[in-house]
Amino acid sequence: MASAEVKRAVVTGGAGFLGSHLCERLVADGWRVICVDNLVTGAAQNVRALEHNKAFESLQHNVSEPLYLDGPVHAVLHFASPASPIDYADLPIATLKVGTLGTHNMLGLARAKGAIFLLASTSEVYGDPTVHPQPETYWGNVNPIGPRAVYDEAKRAAEAFTMAYHRTHGMKTRIARIFNTFGPRMRLNDGRAVPNFLLQALGNQPMTVYGDGSQTRSLCYVDDLIEGVVRLLNADYSDPINLGTTDEITMLELAKRIRDLCGSSSEIVFLPIPEDDPRQRRPDLMRARTILDWEATTSLDSGLKKTISYFKTRLAGGKSKAS
Ligand SMILES: NC(=O)c1ccc[n+]([C@@H]2O[C@H](COP(=O)([O-])OP(=O)(O)OC[C@H]3O[C@@H](n4cnc5c(N)ncnc54)[C@H](O)[C@@H]3O)[C@@H](O)[C@H]2O)c1
Repeated sequence: MASAEVKRAVVTGGAGFLGSHLCERLVADGWRVICVDNLVTGAAQNVRALEHNKAFESLQHNVSEPLYLDGPVHAVLHFASPASPIDYADLPIATLKVGTLGTHNMLGLARAKGAIFLLASTSEVYGDPTVHPQPETYWGNVNPIGPRAVYDEAKRAAEAFTMAYHRTHGMKTRIARIFNTFGPRMRLNDGRAVPNFLLQALGNQPMTVYGDGSQTRSLCYVDDLIEGVVRLLNADYSDPINLGTTDEITMLELAKRIRDLCGSSSEIVFLPIPEDDPRQRRPDLMRARTILDWEATTSLDSGLKKTISYFKTRLAGGKSKAS
């Protein structure tokens, strides 16, 4: 882009797993990026590679409090939120606040600047679904007082806020309903299935599978997800769009796959299934295909290999190329 046309994006949660990949991608696409993060679950190290890039600025701020910025802003991409079940169980009120007050504040910023607003929503809005696969028209099955409610209901409120600002103020808004995504820069101890299994396999420790391990997930590699987010940002479409993959894998199969790829001798042990753990999650991707012409292309094994390599480097205490 010529300098007169350079656009500025605010990425909240930019020092987190997805946010840091998004910041990198936007900078590579010619955007100036302001990463806003309070580092509650993220790490400055995730954006270290961008630190000296003139197109990148980093601001430590809790977006549940209002944010005023000088100068133009063309897009606000709201990714700030604890996202793993152990994080939002640890931070229940902060999670509710960032999904509700944080979304309200960031919509306010986007409105004041005439910017596009993109919300990182989640497949958790479908709760423990009774419809498979889940199309965007499905309203979900969420327990409003269960242990996951602080996250699920906050994201549902975030979507409602986003649509209200779109309808009331005519704002350009986007809602990405993100399904399970994995890749380098997931926090090693964030408790999600992939990091859990990887840490256990690489340490030759017992691999803990919940229930009988027959519950399924579909896992999308981070680069594919970010491509989908960028396409959504550029699309003229304000209803929610699912982003993920349709390749389902049981948790037991995933544990075994990771064990094999790590060359590990870990045994697999079974633990009681956590309350409200969804049995199955699989996106209906018709909208993503037709509106964004998007589909994930990275195979599970190839994504896992890149993630294993990142984890190995982190465990060895070194800096990964990806870190
Ligand atoms: N990774 C996934 O599989 C997945 C799936 C669905 C939705 N999402 C959504 O994507 C977003 C990013 O998830 P992630 O996996 O990268 O998680 P993450 O924990 O790695 O990143 C979240 C980032 O938000 C920051 N943050 C949290 N609260 C904040 C606040 N009040 N103010 C400023 N910064 C704050 C954290 O410090 C962290 O850097 C989240 O909104 C999450 O709900 C992720």
